[in-house]
Amino acid sequence: MTAGDATATDAAVRNGTRPAPPTDEVLVACQDAALTFGRGQHAVVAVHGATLRVRAGDRLAIVGSSGSGKTSLLHLLAGLEQPTSGTVAWPALAGPRDTGLVFQSDSLIPALDVVENTALPLVLAGVPEADARDAATAALALVDAAHLAERLPEEISGGQAQRVAAARVLAQAPRLILADEPTGRLDHTTGGRVLDALLTAADRTRAALVVTTHDPAVAGRLATRLTMRDGRLLTAEGAEGTEGAEGAENTAAAAATQETATQETEETS
Ligand SMILES: Nc1ncnc2c1ncn2[C@@H]1O[C@H](COP(=O)(O)OP(=O)(O)OP(=O)(O)O)[C@@H](O)[C@H]1O
Ligand SMILES: [Mg+2]
Repeated sequence: MTAGDATATDAAVRNGTRPAPPTDEVLVACQDAALTFGRGQHAVVAVHGATLRVRAGDRLAIVGSSGSGKTSLLHLLAGLEQPTSGTVAWPALAGPRDTGLVFQSDSLIPALDVVENTALPLVLAGVPEADARDAATAALALVDAAHLAERLPEEISGGQAQRVAAARVLAQAPRLILADEPTGRLDHTTGGRVLDALLTAADRTRAALVVTTHDPAVAGRLATRLTMRDGRLLTAEGAEGTEGAEGAENTAAAAATQETATQETEETS
């Protein structure tokens, strides 16, 4: 590939018209990974033998109704849950600690303000506090939450907390970004901006991005879409974006979101 091609590709990647080219590096691999909660009569199979590989540069949406197992699968990918059977491995990473999970539910520490919450994983990883704070401040700006820096979690809205949770992951610049319904509590415009921030960060760091969502407009902006139903991962791995009526609708919604998004990105950069 020539330098000119690379520039065109980079621009297309930034504009969201083309996903970052995947590489062969497998960041996480699930082989028949299952997750069961409880035992016997009360056992709930949240994930039935899921097989999935996520490579650097992948942009993956996991859609499915409430209770279908999306969070459970993401927690397996993040190493927060051990598979009941099957395996989960991170071949190109030092381990699950190189992944960053944007939690679906409240995950901020009540006694720390927003910037301290955002910086915490970096501080725990040994980054000097001033540097961690700078990275946190920059990440908060990416999700339009810089003005919340000094507030406590109880002093911000649910949607704002969700944006802070996204910033906390962006500040770490992980190779594998796992975002559990990161726009679930956000309006369309704000959700679009958060998704922009995740996509931009993933492009910059050549990370992979996996997003669970109910929103077709969100799913439509990711190159690959998989569906979970009753704990089963339905679409074959590596399948490209869906074709046909549903796909066309997703693309249109994505284009509409992208227009706003591109403008906003240009304003802030
Ligand atoms: N800690 C747990 N203990 C027992 N059952 C659980 C636990 N966590 C999840 N489940 C069950 O596992 C199944 C999958 O749940 P999961 O949270 O993965 O779904 P989801 O697709 O993320 O749903 P939502 O869209 O509502 O977030 C559900 O039946 C749920 O009740
Ligand atoms: Mg969930």
